[in-house]
Amino acid sequence: MNTHVIADHENGAIDRAVEQLISGELVALPTETVYGLAADALNDAAVHKIYNTKGRPSNNPLICHVSDGNMAERFVEVNETAHILMQTYWPGPLTLVLPQVSHSGLPGKVSAGLDTLAVRCPKTKITRNIISQLSRPIAAPSANPSGKLSPTCAADVVEGLDGKIPLIIDGGTTAVGIESTIIGVQGQKLTLLRPGSITVDEISETTGLKVYDRDQNTITAPGQLVSHYAPNAPVKLGVNKCETGDFFIGFGTQNGKLNLSPDGDLAEAAKNLFAMLRSADKQANGAIAVAPIPMKGIGIAINDRLRRAAAPRG
Ligand code: TXA
Ligand code: MG
Repeated sequence: MNTHVIADHENGAIDRAVEQLISGELVALPTETVYGLAADALNDAAVHKIYNTKGRPSNNPLICHVSDGNMAERFVEVNETAHILMQTYWPGPLTLVLPQVSHSGLPGKVSAGLDTLAVRCPKTKITRNIISQLSRPIAAPSANPSGKLSPTCAADVVEGLDGKIPLIIDGGTTAVGIESTIIGVQGQKLTLLRPGSITVDEISETTGLKVYDRDQNTITAPGQLVSHYAPNAPVKLGVNKCETGDFFIGFGTQNGKLNLSPDGDLAEAAKNLFAMLRSADKQANGAIAVAPIPMKGIGIAINDRLRRAAAPRG
């Protein structure tokens, strides 16, 4: 299969993406976090293709991307707390895991058989327009082969999936750079399922509720397993001084061959994280060593991704 890359501003980009989705094909789409590998969420065979194309374990559920809160309400139960979160953060990098309505019409494999469903409304306008025109949600994991680094530009998608999908919509480099914050909402109980650029403190402030950490002993979805973003080179974390042979990625005043943010800006570091890990992986002869990143704000999400990259490979 030939993979076509077209720019988001090209005439007919939306129509071409929608046509492919209607015909049951996969399309890589830009979001503000990372590129997604999209299928019509109501098409069982298309959703199956996502798992096949990524080599994703079938028990790892997908996020349904919607054009707005109204579309979400066709598939999930939205209580007052969830409603406030949607009002405040959508469109934007917040995924909510909510009870799925009965008879949602979604194939069971979208949520890997769970009775909950992850919903998110992406910020990139083109992707919301594509969903609106399709009038159905799209199921979309990150557009990378399972276990590899998430893609933050169209070229990254090509690197992992060239020849496997018909179309990539190129929306440039993603603004946030790391995947959305995932919050489970069970009544009034909020649980952080994955840290992202929207922090627990912000969620607490918005809702007036405490956000619990996920119970580390319960894996509700395999995406929570530790090793997830494996570069080929081994990764060392919290390194203060670069040893010869290692490829050093700095932060702030700690300079390396690359620097996540010379100004020590955590949002900039998040935006650069996957691209720099990718680049380091291509250049490293030994290990990739990364400077310490402060555990505050979006730094918590950066450290989460780094821990996954450094975890022993399963
Ligand atoms: O920013 C993002 O969220 C990106 C872009 C493309 O939107 N998507 C993304 O998808 O990161 P993916 O498939 O790489 O990660 C989805 C995560 C997985 O860790 C999965 O386990 C979790 O969401 N998840 C999905 N449905 C869930 C559910 N019902 N309960 C608990 N976790 C769920
Ligand atoms: Mg992923």
